[in-house]
Amino acid sequence: MPAFVAGQAKCHGELFAFAMSGLFFKRFLKRPLQIASIVPSSRALVERVASKIDFDRARVIAEYGPGEGVHSRALAQRMRPEAQLLLFELDPAFSRDLTRQFAGDPRVCVINANAGTIRLELAKRRIPYCDYIISGIPFSILEIEKKRNLLRETHDALAPGGAFIIYQVTNELRQHAIDFAPESESEYFLQNIPPMFITVFRKAGELGGNGAIDPADSQFSSNYAR
Ligand SMILES: C[S@@+](CC[C@H](N)C(=O)[O-])C[C@H]1O[C@@H](n2cnc3c(N)ncnc32)[C@H](O)[C@@H]1O
Repeated sequence: MPAFVAGQAKCHGELFAFAMSGLFFKRFLKRPLQIASIVPSSRALVERVASKIDFDRARVIAEYGPGEGVHSRALAQRMRPEAQLLLFELDPAFSRDLTRQFAGDPRVCVINANAGTIRLELAKRRIPYCDYIISGIPFSILEIEKKRNLLRETHDALAPGGAFIIYQVTNELRQHAIDFAPESESEYFLQNIPPMFITVFRKAGELGGNGAIDPADSQFSSNYAR
């Protein structure tokens, strides 16, 4: 582990439950702009993001940019047995590792593709909507048009009353999230390296938990990476 990373971890001690994986750091060195962080999210941040989800009503959850899967594992632990988790990860090495980690869990599907393909991937599986979409991708580095297109696709992929939950170093996405209900909840969360804004954008309507179709009729295929 590089000295500066080790030093940073020591300074912040147990609080941040420093769990940097070798794979995470290697992928950062390979694609710094896409990965955008040298450490996975802290346990505290993972817990806080998960606390925003009503797991009793969540039938389909998508995650953008799971990386090595620190949020995905927490989501899978809390999800109901019939719920589905779709992981959109651009990086092929992370996707392979996630596929290996979730090989025994048929609720989890790893999709090695851009998050912007969400509606296409839902249609392939005959899933009408997601109830929740969680995102750790670095929106702030995207060009404005790409950012707005991804926000529009995300909005359209959500069920009425569904929520888009992001954790980001900046809170600039609020000004672009024009399709969502105007009142977003946002907090600045310090127990992470670096501190993050956690923001919840809601789609107008009432969450009915009807994102997924009857599993017996589903073409849902788990754990594949392209
Ligand atoms: C900052 S890391 C977050 C990793 C993990 N969620 C965490 O909290 O530790 C960002 C991740 O988003 C992925 N990513 C970036 N842009 C993406 C996109 N457009 N679609 C899917 N994944 C993307 C990167 O490959 C990387 O794994």
